[in-house]
Amino acid sequence: MEFNERTLAVRLSGKRIGSCIQFFEEVDSTNDVAFRLAERGAPEGTVVIADCQTKGKGRLKRQWQSPPGCNIYTSIVLRPSIDPVFAPQITLMTGVAVAGLLSGYCPENVTLKWPNDVQLRGKKVCGILTEMSASDAKGVDFIIVGIGINVNIKRVDFDESFRDIATSLKEEAGIEISRLDLTVKLFDNLEHLYTRLLTEGFGSLKDMWLRYSDMVGKHIQVVFNDNVQAGEVLGIDDFGALIISDENDVIRRVMAGDTTIVKDI
Ligand code: BTN
Repeated sequence: MEFNERTLAVRLSGKRIGSCIQFFEEVDSTNDVAFRLAERGAPEGTVVIADCQTKGKGRLKRQWQSPPGCNIYTSIVLRPSIDPVFAPQITLMTGVAVAGLLSGYCPENVTLKWPNDVQLRGKKVCGILTEMSASDAKGVDFIIVGIGINVNIKRVDFDESFRDIATSLKEEAGIEISRLDLTVKLFDNLEHLYTRLLTEGFGSLKDMWLRYSDMVGKHIQVVFNDNVQAGEVLGIDDFGALIISDENDVIRRVMAGDTTIVKDI
């Protein structure tokens, strides 16, 4: 089945996430397009999807490799009535939605790595980039949830620097995966968990995130710019921070960075 605006519109009819679809053969970044649309008033549930990106963005100003014909690059406009400090809950919720989705193809092998990587057998298969427009006076205006999933890209087609640390669903599941089916299921999962977050709060989602993560109890290093923090992971808090206990048993909250597991206990 083709992957385009028409096939998506048929499958997403009546859904809250996907209520308005903007499909592009090529864009700079679906996050940037969604951000511009949201600034002009695009409603909650608007989704931007592209076959390829020329300036796919990752966290910490990195690039996101975005070739055509194989992967999912999408950004969703959300307008939750929450305090901006709780916006990281949206990123963690998205990780749970993707982890649930990929578990349907590769059960047992899906893990979440704080703050926002989804991994298959320890290799990155999906990245999430959440961007927000908010003010002190009005709180959150909108949040853009950007999701990149390596679906059918072959290992040899990854940039050389990613080949040993990234993977795709096809490489792991051994079969070509329909991007249309995967996108529809992704939005379904997101809609379900987003409704749950808004109605029941973050508690059960946090538990789900922790079940998918294998970090609790592990000794890790978190690197952010020139700052390195190390300790044993105790969990995450409601602000999306990672809670670690350092070598002096001091409890620390880590807000950003790249994590590496240094040794198992
Ligand atoms: C990361 O792990 O560093 C986050 C990667 C996020 C990539 C996605 S692809 C769709 C959306 N558009 C972008 O430019 N970035 C996100």
